[in-house]
Amino acid sequence: MLKLQVISKSKEETQRLAANIVRQLAPGSVVLLTGDLGAGKTTFVAGALMELGYKDHVVSPTFNILKCYFEVQPNVFHIDAYRLEDQNIDIGLEEFLEDEGISFVEWPNYIESILPPHTMTIKITRVSDNERLFEFYSDSEKYQKVFSALEGK
Ligand SMILES: Nc1ncnc2c1ncn2[C@@H]1O[C@H](COP(=O)(O)OP(=O)(O)OP(=O)(O)O)[C@@H](O)[C@H]1O
Ligand SMILES: [Mg+2]
Repeated sequence: MLKLQVISKSKEETQRLAANIVRQLAPGSVVLLTGDLGAGKTTFVAGALMELGYKDHVVSPTFNILKCYFEVQPNVFHIDAYRLEDQNIDIGLEEFLEDEGISFVEWPNYIESILPPHTMTIKITRVSDNERLFEFYSDSEKYQKVFSALEGK
């Protein structure tokens, strides 16, 4: 089990962390973001997208569940399963999770049954107004480069 903790003291620091990590993700990576409302999941995804050259404002796909970023390489798929709750609705998200792009999933517990086997989990905990604890976990060697890069810091 790969496991590591990082503290972020600001939104910008979280976005730098995400930028550093997205560069280490192999094609087809699936990153699960957990943590309460306002923890910083979407902020993290925005940091990753900015690093890949996305210039617009990144908004949470809560109301449309999936947002595809075909304008960046690798393509990014941002899923927010919050509105699906436990309803088990089949809307074909598997197609994106199995793609060669990188998927970021907020509220992955709501789509647990369709998650692929090799994922990385990032658990975000609010410590104070501007401080967040990031805990990275993975059972898959596919994410080794992420952990090596974080350890090198
Ligand atoms: N260190 C930090 N890292 C990330 N966000 C931070 C930090 N400090 C403060 N914030 C603030 O916390 C909020 C995080 O909101 P964000 O939309 O990213 O949360 P979320 O986890 O996606 O929530 P939701 O479950 O509602 O989608 C933002 O307003 C951001 O400015
Ligand atoms: Mg969000």
